[in-house]
Amino acid sequence: MIPPKPTARPEKVSLLRYLRLFRQDILSAQPARLYRAWMAEFRTPFFRSYLVNQPELVKTVLKDRPLDFPKSGRVSEGLRPLLGASVFLTNGAQWQRQRRIIDPAFEGGRLRETYPAMWDAAQAALARLAARAGEEVEIEEETSHAAADIIFRTLFSIPIEDALAARVFHEFRAYQRTQPILNLAAFVPLPRWLPRFRRPGTRAAARRIRALITELTERRMAEIRAGTAPDDLATKIMTTRDPETGETFSTEEMVDQVAIFFLAGHETSASALAWAFYLVATHPDWQERLAEEAQLLGEAPAFSDIARLRLSRDVFRETLRLYPPVPMMVRETSCPERFRDRALKPGSQVVLSPWHQHRHERLWENPHGFDPARWGTENGRRCQREAYMPFSAGPRVCTGAGFAMVEGVLMLSLILRDLKLQPVEDRVPEPVAFLTVRARDGIHLRVDKR
Ligand code: HEM
Repeated sequence: MIPPKPTARPEKVSLLRYLRLFRQDILSAQPARLYRAWMAEFRTPFFRSYLVNQPELVKTVLKDRPLDFPKSGRVSEGLRPLLGASVFLTNGAQWQRQRRIIDPAFEGGRLRETYPAMWDAAQAALARLAARAGEEVEIEEETSHAAADIIFRTLFSIPIEDALAARVFHEFRAYQRTQPILNLAAFVPLPRWLPRFRRPGTRAAARRIRALITELTERRMAEIRAGTAPDDLATKIMTTRDPETGETFSTEEMVDQVAIFFLAGHETSASALAWAFYLVATHPDWQERLAEEAQLLGEAPAFSDIARLRLSRDVFRETLRLYPPVPMMVRETSCPERFRDRALKPGSQVVLSPWHQHRHERLWENPHGFDPARWGTENGRRCQREAYMPFSAGPRVCTGAGFAMVEGVLMLSLILRDLKLQPVEDRVPEPVAFLTVRARDGIHLRVDKR
């Protein structure tokens, strides 16, 4: 069975139709040839954009010369009211400084220290789901709840039940509904004068979220000064000095970073986990193998035990290949470039598409099929090195990649240790790109005790 993928649009459509398709969803707006092309040019009357699939070109942009390809200003625009000058949006020296302060918090050793909080959140998620055994459950809702809980516990040492944490979570959900963030204005060649489809509630929602996060951050700043702060990710980031200047983040800068940690850290993981559950529900042989492997978790697994969950990791990795939560990323050329014998003017948009590269028909064997065993094959290993980028690559790689791999593998194993998932008839989820790759009408699964 081939897992669901969006219907590609016809090869030729008018600009107006294209814009309309994009408004609905950036995945079904694309033609099927992008699964075979090394590069594609999108011409509009206003400017050019280029989708790049060829591994060497992607490497040029992300790894070899990242500073020549800054993040596109068009992407940032829609996100700025919420994210301010967060590391996700900044470029150049400001971005470098922010990464110098943030990166140490996510190093391997620190990850081990956040693990007990992650384990507590995973246990809580299992208990919530187990309480619904015998029912049909919309699983994206559950994974969002779980991933938000994990972020709050690891960042601020508070569970999602904390009143302030719960308010932030609910406001983010409302925000996501008013503004599918990674939608068209961000990604496509639209002229700047075109209305950005930003709905009226969006700015107000962003202000409310920032006010709540400011409260959390100020509270933490006071605890740090009083010497009573818990030793979690927030304290680590707020007390780390830039090795070059000796400065720490101001409260306002920290608010920007907390906003992106929360957003990038919970939306993405929630999306990946929900698809992983769907994929094992529709591939019962893999589900059984994972359930068996999960026996090694026991009652209180150590951090090092997670690395032994190899099958779970292969399944999670395969999920990120088929349903990369961030389906596309956009950069901008800052000087004239030559790509595959085409001249790109400065200011051109360069779209890197994990969605298309991960299913590229000239690179991958069985590109649209679910096969977690591929990672042990020659083709799978080569593609993993050259054509796999769910967390992006190069110096701008996701800071939370290691964190997300532990979280995903642990959650998948723990849930399958105790519960059995089955697809619900006639409810095949349709992938669409909202904020992240989600199912248009949710992912519905039947949950039973094992
Ligand atoms: C399965 C889960 C995740 C996926 C698939 C994912 C994917 C990505 C991708 C593709 C980017 C690059 C975006 C671009 O360049 O346009 C990114 C950036 C980022 N992610 Fe993640 N992410 C995940 C989880 C997390 C978590 C758990 C955190 C933090 C706790 C996090 C924090 C960030 C930050 C701060 C950036 C900006 C890095 C920079 O621009 O320098 N992510 N993520």
